[in-house]
Amino acid sequence: MQLLDGKLLSSQIKQEIAAEVTQIREQGGKIPHLVAILVGNNGASETYVASKMKNCEEVGMHSTLIRFDTSVTEDELLARVREVNDNPDMDGLIVQLPLPAHINPDKIMETINPAKDVDGFHPINIGRMAKGLPAYVSATPQGVLDMIKRYGIETSGKHCVVVGRSQIVGLPMSILMQRNTYPGNCTVTLTHSRTRNLAEICRTADILVAALGKPEFVTADMVKEGAVVIDVGLERVPDATKKSGFALKGDVKFSEVAPKTSFITPVPGGVGLMTICSLMQNTLKAARGEVY
Ligand code: GUN
Repeated sequence: MQLLDGKLLSSQIKQEIAAEVTQIREQGGKIPHLVAILVGNNGASETYVASKMKNCEEVGMHSTLIRFDTSVTEDELLARVREVNDNPDMDGLIVQLPLPAHINPDKIMETINPAKDVDGFHPINIGRMAKGLPAYVSATPQGVLDMIKRYGIETSGKHCVVVGRSQIVGLPMSILMQRNTYPGNCTVTLTHSRTRNLAEICRTADILVAALGKPEFVTADMVKEGAVVIDVGLERVPDATKKSGFALKGDVKFSEVAPKTSFITPVPGGVGLMTICSLMQNTLKAARGEVY
């Protein structure tokens, strides 16, 4: 079993991004600038956004955090998104999800300029990604692809089972893994909460991507000997022995699954760190106008 070490890879990728930003600065080019909008104070969202901003600063990019109280109206939020769209100094915009129930996330995503949509959530980017056209690809699936690529894992002809059909991870992951490029060329099965015989299907996976958001859902009996297991889950589970009051768990029961695998991602220290790198890579592309 080999660990897919997100900590190691992400620090290498960050160095690469930092070197590119330094080069841009030396050549008097546009310093990439990521803007994040955060509504309310959901603990997990606070942590994610703070980490995105911190990482941008560490590689020399500019970052701006725009905060709103939960009481913000949809119209106020849309107006702020349009301001960022119109600001030529701001290259990338993310609106952290989830949003309060009175705000329609689809409306917000569709208002973001696709050329600044570094999360790759706009229908135009999802459609272009599906067609294999230049697009911003959602950061988590892109991070998983990068991980597979940098470890040189063979994917062609393999059976990839994705558990979870979220718009952000499961769905784009399934589309990307079937594309006619590396990493890809897999036979993909996209499973979800209504799937029958889920354990049986998972056992046929050469590559198993767990992205359903249920702590330690994938157990050893669901995994084939020698499979590649990618754990996208990151949930806070109450734990009185921790100072924070919670422990971070993935969707895979690591201790029992790991010994059966050829490669597996740890949680934390796996996919999560790759996601932030993808977001910064997308912001770099936005500043350079590489996609649109
Ligand atoms: N909420 C959970 N993951 C993400 C993400 O990748 N981007 C945004 N904007 N919100 C999220």
